[in-house]
Amino acid sequence: MKIRKDFLPFSRPSIGETEINAVAACLKSGWITTGALCKAFEEQLCALTGAPRAVSLSSATAGMHLMLTALNVGPGDEVITPSMTFASTVNLIALRQAKPVFVDVDYGTLNMDCEAMEEKITERTKVMIPVHFAGAPADMDRVNRLARKYSLKVIEDAAHAVGTSYKGTHAGGFGHPAIFSFHPIKNITTGEGGMITLNSAAVEKKLRLTRFHGIERDAWKRYGKGGNPSYDIAEPGYKYNMPDLLAALGLAQMERWRELNARRRVLAGLYFDGLRGTEGLDLPEVPSYDHVHAWHLFVVKVTGMSRDLFMQKLADHNIGYGLHFPPAHKLSYVKKRFGVRAASLPQTNLAADRIISLPLFPDMTENDVHYVCGAIKEILKNA
Ligand SMILES: Cc1ncc(COP(=O)(O)O)c(C=O)c1O
Repeated sequence: MKIRKDFLPFSRPSIGETEINAVAACLKSGWITTGALCKAFEEQLCALTGAPRAVSLSSATAGMHLMLTALNVGPGDEVITPSMTFASTVNLIALRQAKPVFVDVDYGTLNMDCEAMEEKITERTKVMIPVHFAGAPADMDRVNRLARKYSLKVIEDAAHAVGTSYKGTHAGGFGHPAIFSFHPIKNITTGEGGMITLNSAAVEKKLRLTRFHGIERDAWKRYGKGGNPSYDIAEPGYKYNMPDLLAALGLAQMERWRELNARRRVLAGLYFDGLRGTEGLDLPEVPSYDHVHAWHLFVVKVTGMSRDLFMQKLADHNIGYGLHFPPAHKLSYVKKRFGVRAASLPQTNLAADRIISLPLFPDMTENDVHYVCGAIKEILKNA
């Protein structure tokens, strides 16, 4: 086949005039750090998820740090999460001096295996962190049943889950804190950014304090007319607030989330049509329960040749790719510090050397998908 001249990236944010005008208006407004636009963006996430509260942040990673801190996760505590997740979650568990306990995933969906989860629970387990992998929801009925049975806290990792629903409830709408990411590859982006949706007023208060040095009042209230620029700090905090400049972009993206996700769904459908039955390739499976998939990622598994050689061949065809995720239990420091028995995660291990995320972003054309499908078939045929 003829190799395309231009590089097809794995992902690219969809930024139009709406976004550019919104950011320009914020720049012209005289107020660019945390303020009214962050508040409006938080309200939008509440409306989307059904959660009554939301706190905007500099990233989902910051959100995980603040949530683990708010829940007092510390030495002696165990936190259950899939190994097939982004390293940031595991880093923060380790940085809080707690122990990550990894649960296997289903090979087809790469979502957490909720049956395997119960075996991982001990008297030291404090929190479970299900991941809505690639935009497909975790089996929340099962998560909730275990949380109730063993009195565990749940933090939903909703980094992939703007537009993800489980049996009619949007991610973040189950009464647990849920952490969203607006990193540039995510379904909606603010460049970098994150948000925690939640129910508890007390936890919200803690999050608002710890996201901004521990200072009680927001900057925009301190610096507004007649505001008091003095402050006191009862407990030290971090600097994890989102600026209005990014919230402006987020609000403009929120206007488009349905359109953006609908486009992702169409492109995923074209991948299924184009790749179904290809020898040497396992296509992603979707959960059997009722759900709405946000199609954040399209992760295939290469069985017909080495995944690393496959990657190289995609690069030769000018096609980008991603890797979601190098399993956390194989990271050097995790192996050294927590030493996980590989046999306890058979599906994760099987998938780990096969997975590759194909280009998927709203501004991709149908011809782009056809090109990727053609290249994959050619590469595997010649393997
Ligand atoms: C599953 C998952 N969790 C958490 C994160 C962290 O998000 P952020 O980059 O906003 O900190 C990511 C981001 O890539 C992710 O994919």
